[in-house]
Parts: sequence; C-alpha cells; structure tokens
Amino acid sequence: MTSTDLRGEVAPGTVVLVTGGARGIGAELSRHLAAQGAAVVTADVVEATEETGGLDITHVRADVSDEASWRELVAATLDRHGRIDALVNNAAIYQGLGVKQPFTDIPVEEWDRVMAVNTRGVWLGMRAVHPVMKAQGRGRVVNIASSTVHTGVPYFAHYTASKGAVIALTRSVAREVGADGITVNAVAPGLVETEATRSLNDADYLAASAGRRAVPRAMEPGDLAPVVSFLCSEGSGFLTGQTLIVDGGVAFS
Ligand SMILES: NC(=O)c1ccc[n+]([C@@H]2O[C@H](COP(=O)([O-])OP(=O)(O)OC[C@H]3O[C@@H](n4cnc5c(N)ncnc54)[C@H](O)[C@@H]3O)[C@@H](O)[C@H]2O)c1
Repeated sequence: MTSTDLRGEVAPGTVVLVTGGARGIGAELSRHLAAQGAAVVTADVVEATEETGGLDITHVRADVSDEASWRELVAATLDRHGRIDALVNNAAIYQGLGVKQPFTDIPVEEWDRVMAVNTRGVWLGMRAVHPVMKAQGRGRVVNIASSTVHTGVPYFAHYTASKGAVIALTRSVAREVGADGITVNAVAPGLVETEATRSLNDADYLAASAGRRAVPRAMEPGDLAPVVSFLCSEGSGFLTGQTLIVDGGVAFS
C-alpha cells in the first residue's frame, strides 16, 4: 500500500464510472476523482455542459434504468480504458421530482419511474460491472443513498423508499461479492446545496436544515467528494456493506 492509498485518495489511472455525472453532485465527484488522476467516465441522460478543465473525464449518454444502456456503457468504458476499478451509482430522479407531495397523491407511474431509476438503476449497474470487477479480482462500488432514509423526510415517500432500498441492496450485494475482491458501500448525504436542492426547497427550509447540524452550515458537494474518493480507494478495502451518513451530524448511525 502506498502513502497515496493511506490518504484515502484514488491512485492515478484508476478508472471510475460515475452515473448522473453531467451536473450537480455527480459532476463534482467526477472532477474531484479526476483531479486525483482518475480516468472518469460519466453516464447521464442529459448532456454535460461544464468544461472538463483538462481533466480526464469522458461523458457518455446512458439511461441507468435500461439494461441495454448499461451493456453499451460498460463496453464503451472498457474500449476506452480497458478496465473498471470503481462504479459510483449517483444517478437518480431527484431534481425532476418537483414539489414534495403527500404519499396519497403520488401517481403510480411516478412511483414506478423513481424506483426504476433510483433503485433498479443501482442494481443494474452493479450487475453490469460485476463480471469485469470479478475478472480483475478487485473493484469498488459506491451507491449514493440519502439521509432522508434515516430522518424520515415527509412528502417524499417514493424517493425515500427508493434510497432505503439502495441501502438494503448495498448490504446484500456486499455479502455476495466480498470474496471476489469487491467492496460495496453507500453514502447517505444530507441536504446538499445543489441547483436541484435549491429548486426543490425554499431558502428558509435550507437555513433551518443547516441549523440542525452539529456542524451548523450549508453542505456543499465538496463535503461529499472526499468520502466517495476514500470509498473508491485501496485504503477502504476492509470496509463493505456500510452506509456512511455525511450530513454534518444530524442523523447518527
Ligand atoms: N442534493 C441533495 O441534497 C442530495 C441529498 C441526498 C442524496 N442526494 C443524491 O445525490 C445524487 C445526486 O443528486 P443531485 O443533487 O446532483 O441531483 P440532480 O438531480 O442534479 O442529479 C442527478 C443526475 O442524475 C441524472 N439522471 C437522472 N435520471 C437518469 C437516468 N435514468 N440515467 C442516467 N442519469 C440520470 C440527472 O440527469 C442528473 O444529472 C442523487 O442520487 C441524489 O438522490 C442528493
């Protein structure tokens, strides 16, 4: 193990696939990993608009809820880089949820779509990269859940249920793939001040949320990125099936 590993950073040349990486948290995670020397491939249903700033970030259009899309994404990543060291399952329907609504009002089609992207997408992603990581004898999977699972945020039932399932899936798959040299962990962020969050919540709600934290300030994507990076690094090899709550100290596990 090198000193780089002990810092919890990814080694230069680490190939990381980040879903939902065109904007928001996924874009910041991609930049953070690439700044450490990772070769990052992002997958999103929308075009990435920001410059990559000379970092090794390749944007691919893919729908994580679609099985065929995953086959193409994995093939494209292998064509370009020859392996996949880490998968960060970050894509989700979050910004697209619109205003919060009582559980009694959620249309069945909307429930199913949220589950298809936020939960099935994570399962399909792990399933798609598994043969590659198993053949390599190593791999890291980081699933982005949400602290709403722990705090029970109201009027967001499909979203919280989808993220609760991600935590359960993380534990279950971790047990299945540990012997293959693959770790699977989840990160449960608190309310991160992204464009998506600002469009879903008013300023008073954001200020009240920040005030409830043991570290009483707004949470930025940069608060999350080093934790994800650690979970993608060699140094986290004996940590698996866990969910790290990164919320400035609201919910304690
Ligand atoms: N922002 C927060 O406060 C917060 C808190 C906890 C967890 N999270 C989670 O963090 C992750 C990123 O959130 P964000 O704030 O950047 O939200 P966001 O809505 O801006 O980003 C989600 C990204 O996923 C992409 N996406 C949606 N459906 C997709 C699909 N079918 N296939 C591929 N990509 C798809 C979107 O286009 C978008 O770029 C999500 O998993 C979200 O649930 C966010």
